Amino acid sequence: MQVGKLVEQWRRARMKVGLVPTMGALHQGHLSLVSLALGEADRVIVSIFVNPSQFGRGEDLSSYPSNFDEDLKKLDEAGVHCVFFPSVDEIYPEGFSTSIHVSGLTDTLCGKYRPEHFDGVATVCSILMSIVRPDIAVFGRKDAQQLAVIRRMVDDLRLGVEIHAGDIIREPDGLAMSSRNSYLDPDERRQAPVIHSGLSRAAVLVSKGERDTERICGAVREAIAEASLATLQYLELVDPDSMKPVSKLTTPALLAVAVYFGHTRLIDNVILKP
Ligand code: PAF
Repeated sequence: MQVGKLVEQWRRARMKVGLVPTMGALHQGHLSLVSLALGEADRVIVSIFVNPSQFGRGEDLSSYPSNFDEDLKKLDEAGVHCVFFPSVDEIYPEGFSTSIHVSGLTDTLCGKYRPEHFDGVATVCSILMSIVRPDIAVFGRKDAQQLAVIRRMVDDLRLGVEIHAGDIIREPDGLAMSSRNSYLDPDERRQAPVIHSGLSRAAVLVSKGERDTERICGAVREAIAEASLATLQYLELVDPDSMKPVSKLTTPALLAVAVYFGHTRLIDNVILKP
């Protein structure tokens, strides 16, 4: 049955419908979003779609990890009611010419280095929401800028979907779970938790009274520099809603980081509270 028809039936039965958009290669982080959705909605749909329009030239679209059978098994065990895995043609049929750009929020952090990325994310999420018509949709806080962009888009376009956010899920050594962690070689994987320990150093400094952005970021840079295989792409303290840089920590702010290990780009963040 078509996903739209299924959702119509559920709606007629007065059921609340939740959507968890993913690109597959599911890990505990995704499953925690699924369990959040299952707690909030009567019926949960997970979409699996590796969205070409959010990958820039030279990025990892062709090598993006995929484990479809395993994903289906995990979602079945989790109690998901429907898995929606559209083809590229279904999402972007011939003649498709629309792109959604959320301005301002996309100028900083990842947006600076991946200029097409958030247009691709906003566009595909609006299409998925139009097809599924969920009451709620769940996104992870690891992609904090993506979350802010989606919230803005849903508000601006009056899509009528409530956005819920799931916490970052970490490996025992602190590394934030990500499908891209599977690209890391053993040495890179050993060093990658430095991202989280750097962010944690910042949180400790703040708890001791530090409020100066430069000094807070300096401590994280120092920590990351201790990992010989790490190359920092950006580290910024920004307002968590507007994504605008803040020079002094006076209200809760998002400290966000992107680090390369070889060709693998990892992101992470922490909310610092003065
Ligand atoms: O976070 C992701 O996995 C993707 O950006 C999303 C939200 C599924 C859109 O393709």
